[in-house]
Amino acid sequence: MTDKDFNAMRADASLWQRAIHGVSSVLLGLVNLLSIPTILATVALRWFRLRYAMLKPRPGDIYVATAPKTGTTWMQQIVHQVLTGGRGEFEHISQVSPYLEQLMLRDFAQAVLDALPSPRILKTHMPYWLVAPPPDSRVIYVTRNAADSLVSVHSHVCLETGYRHKLDVPFFRRDFMLKRWFWHLKSWWPHRADPNVLHLRYEDLAADLEGGIRKVARFLGVTLEEDRMGAILEKCSFAFMKQHDDRFDVRVPVFDPSASRPGFIRKGVVGDGRAVLTPEVQAALGERMGPLRKKLGLGETEV
Ligand code: A3P
Repeated sequence: MTDKDFNAMRADASLWQRAIHGVSSVLLGLVNLLSIPTILATVALRWFRLRYAMLKPRPGDIYVATAPKTGTTWMQQIVHQVLTGGRGEFEHISQVSPYLEQLMLRDFAQAVLDALPSPRILKTHMPYWLVAPPPDSRVIYVTRNAADSLVSVHSHVCLETGYRHKLDVPFFRRDFMLKRWFWHLKSWWPHRADPNVLHLRYEDLAADLEGGIRKVARFLGVTLEEDRMGAILEKCSFAFMKQHDDRFDVRVPVFDPSASRPGFIRKGVVGDGRAVLTPEVQAALGERMGPLRKKLGLGETEV
């Protein structure tokens, strides 16, 4: 809905509707204001728990530390293929290179971080001081032209929210992902020449992917098998990654390599519970449902 549509709708509204809209907006503003410290505290606590209790830094950990939409996923793929000589396979990139901010929300974060082989490839959009990369870690910092990043952020936000937002000035001023883009730049740019940081530009990678791959390998101390360069280039090409979009889409992360991803419209059958659930899970479910059935008078076949 454009601002014009919205104003037209408001002109049609009755006095009551306007009053309700006005009062609830003020109250919502107040509630939001009061919630901000709680939200910030929750995010901060989750991050610090992940960073300082769960991550257990290992020498040689590799951070792909980028602002959103600057080529993060591309760099994760480049690093993974450099380390595996172009043999890297996965169902989803998160399995081989988890996104730390996403992990901090999950109860399986510890298990995922512990199970990753060294050197771990850790993706993060957090500012420098929150990542606080240890001196024996290695950081790959990718930057990208601001206008191109903005277009990419807009497309991402549309995909994520399912709405066709207008790419206008209000979007530019309001969008949170963009705010993070700017915070990231301010925070990381001064560290781009730190001894454990490799700074690369998206534009240079696009112009000379092989050159970029070689820089990454040198930085990580990996001797490339020359006969594998073709495979690495192929897997890091735009065409390959586009073709396998679902393996890279951050909206569908899959952390368990043995899990199949059935899709949102899945099977649509009756009786899958009995077919799929283990007896232990069925028993646990029974224990939970038993009292509920009694309380609500639900028969075995009803729910
Ligand atoms: P566009 O939206 O401009 O196409 P991030 O991984 O940080 O979210 O960055 C996403 C951007 O990197 C997208 O830009 C995407 O197309 C681009 N990208 C991903 N893989 C790429 C590749 N192999 N070659 C070039 N660009 C790539």
